[in-house]
Amino acid sequence: MAKIPPPLWLLAEVTHSCPLQCPYCSNPLELVPKKDELDTETWLKVLHQARKLGAAQLGFSGGEPLVRKDLEVLVGEARKLGYYSNLITSGVGMDAARVEKFRELGLDHIQISFQADDASLNDYLAGTKAFQHKLDMARAVKASGYPMVLCFVIHRQNMHRVAQMLDLAVELQADYVELATTQFEGWALANRDHLLPSLEQVRAAERVAKSYQEKLKGQMRIYYVVPDYYEQRPKACVAGWGRVFLAVAPDGLALPCHSARSLPGLELHNVREHDLDWIWYESSAFNYFRGEAWMKEPCRSCDEREKDFGGCHCQAFKLTGDPKNADPTCAKSPHHHLIGQAIDTSQLNLISSKPLLFRKR
Ligand code: FES
Repeated sequence: MAKIPPPLWLLAEVTHSCPLQCPYCSNPLELVPKKDELDTETWLKVLHQARKLGAAQLGFSGGEPLVRKDLEVLVGEARKLGYYSNLITSGVGMDAARVEKFRELGLDHIQISFQADDASLNDYLAGTKAFQHKLDMARAVKASGYPMVLCFVIHRQNMHRVAQMLDLAVELQADYVELATTQFEGWALANRDHLLPSLEQVRAAERVAKSYQEKLKGQMRIYYVVPDYYEQRPKACVAGWGRVFLAVAPDGLALPCHSARSLPGLELHNVREHDLDWIWYESSAFNYFRGEAWMKEPCRSCDEREKDFGGCHCQAFKLTGDPKNADPTCAKSPHHHLIGQAIDTSQLNLISSKPLLFRKR
């Protein structure tokens, strides 16, 4: 096997707790309870070990990372260690003083997510009243000198309002906007029949995003990626297993991808017991999908295998029962018809549907 590169990106999932209940949450259905979370000291050890390994970019995420009272301690340490650090947040749990504190401590980036561009839809999807506070916090972030980074998670329930979302971004003087299409993992997969957009919605959103990209060139960068259910080839999930990305879950499990704990046969290790260096280079979990030996057809002989690495193994497992199958979003997969079926089922569900399942807090 080729030499293993060091991880570049550490995702610190510091908690699964969240004041919001978004039905598109990609966290597992079984959330890590607060009592099982790593303590401050162990998180500091994780930051040190990952930096020593070579990680340069650090994301604080969750759940809602602001729930952790020691977030400031971790942010300060990240700066001392020389990370480029990013806080991925709903904005709930923040106030202007905390934004200022993060700035003093050297946090590089704050990304605030919105559920929609208007209060009623936003608060419905968040399961709580949060829209006005998000607006206030977005303004506070901008006022403190940070670049304004907004994220709208889009799906069938809100995709018709992409133009209004981008108008809001303009009003807030956003520098970057991500129109993040829902990934069907965790709670989002449980709610897929409600969240999967139609082809018409996807194409309309694409047209709107393109026209705003042209109109706002040089002023605001807009990222929009077509949902993989409507692509012919899978995405290289986490840029390839064990190549760049290392996540640590709230309970200390080191994960090669966000959803790895759902995969059968994968022996995951905990940072409480093992050094990250060993986990990254030696553990069976991180080596599981490295290289090509694990591949079955059609991936094994595919001339695009070094581009997408077989796609998302968690998606392959959830939809086909075997994580070594090609991601069924690939048109070459013998299971690709499952994607068409999912789209058809979700369209039927437009007429009669079970209620949305809101994430547990
Ligand atoms: Fe696990 Fe894609 S989320 S490989």
